[in-house]
Amino acid sequence: MRVDVLTLFPGYFDGPLRASLLGRARDSGLLSVAVHDLRDWATDRHRTVDDVPYGGGAGMVLKAEPFFAAVEGLYGGIEQRPRTIVLTPRGAPLAQERVVEFAAEPGLPLLCGRYEGIDERVHAALAHDEVSIGDYVLAGGEAAAAVVVEAVTRLLPGVMGNTASGADESFSRGLLEYPQYTRPAEFRGMRVPDVLLSGDHDAVDRWRTEQAEERTRSTRPDLYRAWSQRTRP
Ligand code: ADE
Repeated sequence: MRVDVLTLFPGYFDGPLRASLLGRARDSGLLSVAVHDLRDWATDRHRTVDDVPYGGGAGMVLKAEPFFAAVEGLYGGIEQRPRTIVLTPRGAPLAQERVVEFAAEPGLPLLCGRYEGIDERVHAALAHDEVSIGDYVLAGGEAAAAVVVEAVTRLLPGVMGNTASGADESFSRGLLEYPQYTRPAEFRGMRVPDVLLSGDHDAVDRWRTEQAEERTRSTRPDLYRAWSQRTRP
């Protein structure tokens, strides 16, 4: 998988891309990430990438030209670009289903906005997907791009050592994860539930499902309703 990030703040990604899972995926060649400074595609002496909004209003808008020039430069033309994602609070909320789709793409250009937004022609002509990571406004799309890269990378074949843990976790079956414990069996007066020490695998499975259902019902009623309708129509 080749990821190209277009940003005004390339340094933002230094930490996240080196740490842990992403660092290992890159070292092993399963993931390649190139972080590009949008200013490299500005054409004036001051490397200008933003301008005032037509129609007036506060703040600055990122210009269309550097984004188009970058995509053309990186992929040899707009038409050849892989599935292109713009990170923006107006996008569709990111969910695991979409992460699974992204992970199947050969490449992902990630376009990060800043300031009051990006010229609409970038959204219209370059974006296949507009992605938000939640109903809150960040200073820019960089954190959201890092989230997309991390969520996608852990699904790439060969990245996660233990593939079973991928199938069982939150969201893949529509429920939040059940509680996990490790040794010691008692810690500061808090005991691990007896069933987990019982060695009865069927009882453990039943307990985990009940816990996952109860947790989902109380913290994510939206997910719980969708799950109930699928499993008990
Ligand atoms: N840029 C600013 N806020 C954002 C959000 N919530 N998701 C994605 N990109 C953003």
